[in-house]
Amino acid sequence: MLSRVAKRAFSSTVANPYKVTVLGAGGGIGQPLSLLLKLNHKVTDLRLYDLKGAKGVATDLSHIPTNSVVKGFTPEEPDGLSNALKGTDMVLIPAGVPRKPGMTRDDLFAINASIVRDLAAAAAESAPNAAILVISNPVNSTVPIVAQVLKNKGVYNPKKLFGVTTLDSIRAARFISEVENTDPTQERVNVIGGHSGITIIPLISQTNHKLMSDDKRHELIHRIQFGGDEVVKAKNGAGSATLSMAHAGAKFANAVLSGFKGEKDVIEPSFVDSPLFKSEGIEFFASPVTLGPDGIEKIHPIGELSSEEEEMLQKCKETLKKNIEKGVSFVASK
Ligand code: NAD
Ligand code: LMR
Repeated sequence: MLSRVAKRAFSSTVANPYKVTVLGAGGGIGQPLSLLLKLNHKVTDLRLYDLKGAKGVATDLSHIPTNSVVKGFTPEEPDGLSNALKGTDMVLIPAGVPRKPGMTRDDLFAINASIVRDLAAAAAESAPNAAILVISNPVNSTVPIVAQVLKNKGVYNPKKLFGVTTLDSIRAARFISEVENTDPTQERVNVIGGHSGITIIPLISQTNHKLMSDDKRHELIHRIQFGGDEVVKAKNGAGSATLSMAHAGAKFANAVLSGFKGEKDVIEPSFVDSPLFKSEGIEFFASPVTLGPDGIEKIHPIGELSSEEEEMLQKCKETLKKNIEKGVSFVASK
């Protein structure tokens, strides 16, 4: 083990060291996500918190010879959660229960809303300047919950709150490559809206595959919108996507840190506090955003849509509005 002095000297030699906290680090997503963050050279201080298992995961990861120090925190220790959060630059929240077959993401609200609300309150107290990346479902409601908690505490910065929707765009890239026989690593599909069923809108008309037959496109859109169900069904009661989600979460976290570092043209989709449909009462919307030193630098417009996509957007907005209001009023009612 490095001495504390040696650790300090070592991390001061690393450019742009970032402190990152994972809340729910012992879970199906939390563990592989923490592994991928341990392998990310932009991270020098990795703090893992969970109701169970965080210390074990942290000790396990601490043997990997990358430039970060990893520490586990538990609710049993005095100030476990606040110490996990104090001074951190980025908080990822995969804490909460996953779906079982037959459930919608909205069915998770009853349990996850209060978990996310309480973790957001702790982040507001101990890490008011951190970027917060919300993974816990239902994302369409949990992101507004976090925003409302931060507003109530007077520390809301809309440029630093993100609903992680990266899994929708990586699925879209993979699934389109399967039907078009192309290289998935070269596919880019803008996915806008929210993160559940019909609120997920892949913009196929903006790809190189706009001439796809109607049948093929309808099937593809449906698969992207309901890709989560495929995994829930295959896991047969043992949870939902964890490994692809860990990859998606680590990809998005890396983009946020790249923005912090001042790298140019870092663009990823995310569900954020967005001006795009505010005039229609929709406060949050997923679209590509440019990430910079202070978080969101630019929220990109959605571009031109086909008439089919316009129709999908109308339906998305109806559901999204209700999901957002549900999150906001949950916090307001407590
Ligand atoms: P999991 O049950 O395997 O892990 C969740 C972890 O959260 C557990 O270790 C649990 O102890 C911990 N936890 C619960 N309450 C906590 C609290 N108050 N503080 C700290 N930790 C707490 O579940 P999972 O498969 O990792 O999924 C987690 C969440 O992520 C689910 O809500 C799931 O729906 C969601 N998810 C989102 C996406 C997305 O695209 N945004 C993708 C997949 C899963
Ligand atoms: C997903 O898209 O895989 C996640 O939101 C988990 C789920 O419940 O489907």
